[in-house]
Amino acid sequence: MLRRLIVGNWKMHKTISQAESLINDILKIYQPHPSVELAVAPPFVALQAASRLLAVTSIKLTAQNVCAKDEGAFTGEISPPMLREVGCHYVIIGHSERRHIFGETDQDINEKIHAALRHSLLPVLCVGERLEERQANQTQSIIQHQLQTGLDGLQSKDLAHITIAYEPVWAIGTGHAATLDQAAEVHAHIRSSLAKQWGINPDQTRVVYGGSVSPDNAQMLFQSPQINGALVGKACLNSESFVKIAKLATSD
Ligand code: PGA
Repeated sequence: MLRRLIVGNWKMHKTISQAESLINDILKIYQPHPSVELAVAPPFVALQAASRLLAVTSIKLTAQNVCAKDEGAFTGEISPPMLREVGCHYVIIGHSERRHIFGETDQDINEKIHAALRHSLLPVLCVGERLEERQANQTQSIIQHQLQTGLDGLQSKDLAHITIAYEPVWAIGTGHAATLDQAAEVHAHIRSSLAKQWGINPDQTRVVYGGSVSPDNAQMLFQSPQINGALVGKACLNSESFVKIAKLATSD
């Protein structure tokens, strides 16, 4: 089985000093396990402080977003080389809040994926349907479209560096996670469509679930071998609940 990845997406929470406290609290109680990889995604301004604290640990630094350009007149943006130099390993791309609040298009997301890979940042590509799309039975076609456009122009070998996060929009921040069956069904669909499109082994693609993951439902979700980890929002802002989720993800 693939190593599970648990990413804490802090969103727009924590100042630099608060970020240092949270990371120190995580480090106090986290016991690494070979079956799980832990990653945290603080806001941009806290990356450097987080990087210093994580330098001698196995916890991977992650950015919440990236610009598709390497440098230039792009006020307010942060480039892939900047993220590399500060110590980022992963970058979240195409989160539903970026898509729906900030109007990121599939084309923008595709450019960011290419830019990240050019600079050896590993993308965590988020895909997911809205409630009305699920109700209209469009879940599979929406996901298929997001995968196809998001990954357009990549080669099969690039897929080994990509993690897909299935995050149904209706489950994010609502306290209503997908059921095991709902998540496992979409994960299987993601795997088979990537295998079909890229000719890769479906078991080699890491697909994590996101949307109201908590210590209360993580065990249920991790029952499925289809679920290779979690992208955690609210529950990652507390060291105990975040570390508990990581612990529930371990396997022998
Ligand atoms: P949530 O957020 O765990 O608070 O639902 C998940 C996410 O947006 O990645």
